[in-house]
Amino acid sequence: MLSKHIVERLKSIVGISRLLLSKSDLDRFGVDRTTIWQPRPCAVILPGSVEEVRQIVLVANEFNLAIVPSGGRTGLSGGAVAANGELVVAMDRLNQVLDFKPLERTVTLGAGMITVDLQTFAEQHNLFFPVDFAAAGSSQIGGNVATNAGGIKVIAYGMTRNWVLGLKVVTGSGELLDLNRGLVKNNTGYDLRHLFIGSEGTLGLICEVTIQLTRPPTESRVMVLGVSHFSAILKVLEAFSAQIDLSAFEFFSQLALEKVVAHTGCAEPLDTAAPFYALLEFEIANQDLLDQAMGIFEHIVEQGWVLDGVMSQSLSQAQSLWKLREQISEALRQWQPYKNDISVRVSSMADFIKEADQLVADRYADFELVWYGHIGDGNLHLNILKPEAMDSQDFVASCVPVSSEIGGLVARYQGSVSAEHGVGLLKKDYLHYSRSAAEIDMMRRIKKAFDPKGLLNPGKIFD
Ligand code: MLT
Ligand code: ZN
Repeated sequence: MLSKHIVERLKSIVGISRLLLSKSDLDRFGVDRTTIWQPRPCAVILPGSVEEVRQIVLVANEFNLAIVPSGGRTGLSGGAVAANGELVVAMDRLNQVLDFKPLERTVTLGAGMITVDLQTFAEQHNLFFPVDFAAAGSSQIGGNVATNAGGIKVIAYGMTRNWVLGLKVVTGSGELLDLNRGLVKNNTGYDLRHLFIGSEGTLGLICEVTIQLTRPPTESRVMVLGVSHFSAILKVLEAFSAQIDLSAFEFFSQLALEKVVAHTGCAEPLDTAAPFYALLEFEIANQDLLDQAMGIFEHIVEQGWVLDGVMSQSLSQAQSLWKLREQISEALRQWQPYKNDISVRVSSMADFIKEADQLVADRYADFELVWYGHIGDGNLHLNILKPEAMDSQDFVASCVPVSSEIGGLVARYQGSVSAEHGVGLLKKDYLHYSRSAAEIDMMRRIKKAFDPKGLLNPGKIFD
């Protein structure tokens, strides 16, 4: 509970209506897409300017008030959960385009801008913002930066980090930092901007972002291929990427497809069901490329890796095929899935998959397992579905020991226990599988430099 005095101080910064205290607001703003933790913030505040953010942080310092920065709360690792009486600072009102420089193809915007609005803005100027994922309709750019969001086009365009040219952040002690200021070239010592990208709100509140836009892609084709077994997916990837620059290479299992079909009413893409599906996309600069793609298709069918396939002939068909992949997360939500988001180097993927598949099949014999992910980036999403009759806490408790084993396997392959979802609360016990003790210690010291009182998103990434 906030004291009356603090409530008055906070209201005096943002205005009476921008400090939210009702139970429904606290419940709404206190969680992300995870279902493990209960929301329990003390209040939600909606600043309307960078200066208001700074004032809020100064008050938080005065009263030792912990802060959880909040964007679209589409995260899957509990990074935006406020379960311990924190003040949620929601960036929703900082959602304007502040500057656009066509010559540089850069745009500066408030951190609260919704990802799809940035994509639309780019399109309206005949440009392209390439970071894309299913939650783009509600995720905010500040949150994407704070988690270094990845998504479905990483194979061609990289993660959010690649597109950030500048950041305005307020640190835990209330300093305003204007980092890199949109420069392409700037070798003046440590690039602090990159520390904030992926820092999950533990170092500062991201208020403004300068984004590099690019030219839109030319016409693309999407293929969905029915793949005969798990390890053949890598062979298919190899066959295509040896000849064609792919803009996406995703995969999902038959079970994932079944759940999407049941959830959305979409049609199955192929006449013959397959254990796995690869979805790939490439730009067709000329007819030769299409011929090449067909040649590869024939080869992978001959090899027995692919059973059947379909290629989009129109934009709407391409969108329908994409839906089969993009809707998986939403389709699985009702099972409160326990999410694994792991990665290894693509060259280690075939061996890793064999071991991972065996491990989870043994350990999770009684659960439904749904595999999908951005396999072209070496990134696998393994979702364990909660049996209907099982209590949520018991379910999580039964997943924890297996997660440690998966962590051990990932460590053996020098991979990552969180490829793109961040660490938040969900993965912090497994951080040591991907980061050395020296690295974690260094991260703690970096946090101390930016947030000496430990007020920003406490307990996230590490304790
Ligand atoms: C996805 O790839 O669909 C997203 O990372 C969300 C998820 O893993 O559920
Ligand atoms: Zn993903």
